[in-house]
Amino acid sequence: MKKIAVIGAGTMGNGIAHVFAMKGYAVALIDISEAALEKGMGTVAKNLDRMVRKERITEGDKLSTLSQITTYTDTAKGVKDADLVVEAATENVDLKLKIFKNLSAVTAPNTILATNTSSISITKIAAVTDRPDKVIGMHFFNPVPVMKLVEVIRGYATSDEVTAQIMELSKGLGKVPVEVKDYPGFTANRILMPLINEAIITLYEGVAGVQEIDTVMKLGMGHPMGPLQLADFVGLDVCLAILRVLQEGFGNSKYAPCPLLVNMVAAGKLGRKSGEGFYDYSGKGKDLVISKQFA
Ligand code: 3HC
Repeated sequence: MKKIAVIGAGTMGNGIAHVFAMKGYAVALIDISEAALEKGMGTVAKNLDRMVRKERITEGDKLSTLSQITTYTDTAKGVKDADLVVEAATENVDLKLKIFKNLSAVTAPNTILATNTSSISITKIAAVTDRPDKVIGMHFFNPVPVMKLVEVIRGYATSDEVTAQIMELSKGLGKVPVEVKDYPGFTANRILMPLINEAIITLYEGVAGVQEIDTVMKLGMGHPMGPLQLADFVGLDVCLAILRVLQEGFGNSKYAPCPLLVNMVAAGKLGRKSGEGFYDYSGKGKDLVISKQFA
């Protein structure tokens, strides 16, 4: 594979473009507006600067990585001659189905179509394309340049050959791919989201406070972030949406989102991206500040 097209220049999309470009692939980064592309490229540059500062890469590596990425607002132009498209658009079923239907029409028939969805059925996405055997989940983790895992999700019709190609490609990126089947939440979020939900229920029931819950999991379990901090990092709206997929997909009330999570999302407290969740991100300091709601 030589050319990779990435759809969506947000947090996940620009991270995916970053890791492919660092390995010398020609990357087409596609989004609907120039402003989104500029912001995404700004983030890639900032993350590369951080790697230069930490002496992980040289200034020359940074410049050559940036030169591997070309931006497009026109999908058909961006995906031209791509061996693989990785879709990392907003997590919305209708939007993803529309994108994949269009990709069927504008890509060469042998182009592999991957999605970075965190919870939408790969089988459902594949069914709107002309090549369900070449549609696969390639689930990266935030921050993409740092996290080693790629959850490779086989849809109902994904071929052995395409799965093997994506496993090898992920290894070549310096990642560790893990192959899983296409059921709600796949494996990562099926396990992570009930953990986060239980942490929120523990807070909601007054068993322990924000700091206590996160300290227990950080120091007792060796997690780099406590589950409430991680929920803020992922986005509380994203956590809620994934819990709903699990609840509906399995028809099991054990996945029912905590009412506190539902309330926080309704109040627009979405975590880091909105400036407040379990913690308050409005200050400039590096120290974690508990939101006044829970202090
Ligand atoms: N780009 C590039 N490098 C980055 C980076 C970024 N965006 N963010 C951090 N780094 C690097 C730093 O340069 C540093 O590198 P070094 O080891 O060479 O010095 C290293 O990562 C650690 O960063 P910091 O020292 O600044 O900060 P921390 O030690 O606090 O680590 C963290 C930050 C890596 C985010 C760590 O807290 C962590 O691993 N947290 C858990 C993250 C996690 O669980 N992610 C998965 C979320 S779930 C998901 O994405 C799936 C979805 O479907 C919900």
